[in-house]
Amino acid sequence: MKLAFWKKKSGGAAGQVDFGHLPRHVAIILDGNGRWAKRRGLPRTAGHKVGAETFRTIATYCRDIGLDYLTVYAFSTENWKRPAEEVDTIMDLLKKYMLEAIDTMERDNVRLRFVGDLSVLSDELKELAARCDAISAKLTGCQCNICLNYGGRAEIVHAAREFAKDCTAGRVKPEDLTEKSFEGYLYTAGVPSPELLIRPGGEQRLSNFLLWQCAYAEFYYTDVLWPDFTVEELHRAFAAYQRRDRRFGGVKQ
Ligand code: FPP
Repeated sequence: MKLAFWKKKSGGAAGQVDFGHLPRHVAIILDGNGRWAKRRGLPRTAGHKVGAETFRTIATYCRDIGLDYLTVYAFSTENWKRPAEEVDTIMDLLKKYMLEAIDTMERDNVRLRFVGDLSVLSDELKELAARCDAISAKLTGCQCNICLNYGGRAEIVHAAREFAKDCTAGRVKPEDLTEKSFEGYLYTAGVPSPELLIRPGGEQRLSNFLLWQCAYAEFYYTDVLWPDFTVEELHRAFAAYQRRDRRFGGVKQ
């Protein structure tokens, strides 16, 4: 019913989207918060606050249209180099988001997972993330993965270490390792790879995000800064994705 609503009611790029063939998993690099704030003469932290609201809008919409997975890059292993005030603001926003999610996830049927090396987070954030995980385990709706202290290379090294530990313990043999079984050691174990990766903010690079998982993702770049990102922009990304010819290294028959 909701899909029919969007097809009928919304003009613009929605009309170019085939809502019956959306990607199952969309990944987004949340970029441009700082520039958005600077252009308005505001502190960078103001951009993160609006960016967190934009995430809420887009995640809710992704749930409404029946997307299975939405994964966002909220904080990288390199982002600790930012000024302490900015890091603190982002952590506060995440805490606020987690607290609200704990109250609303069941009602909204949204699963929330935090992906990355969470060991360095504060005890409070770790505890809130664990509570979100426990609630999510009972739910079936759209899974929102928020990548936190995440780095794609670090994830692959972590996975290799975990596999090596299993080898040393005699649980598996090196020759048993396949691409499929290796995926089981990644932070994203059990989550299918994203078909579409969106990067707002004008940059055209992967920035160490989901290196393994994006091997065959279609990239969509836009100059729109993340706080200005709208459902209409998401429709443009879907329409562009649906125009792509995905061959996975093969040839068209
Ligand atoms: C990149 O923009 C953005 C970040 C490093 C932080 C993203 C975090 C949030 C939106 C807040 C919490 C998120 C959720 C999901 C509740 P930038 O600062 O690099 O922007 P710039 O390139 O314009 O400087």
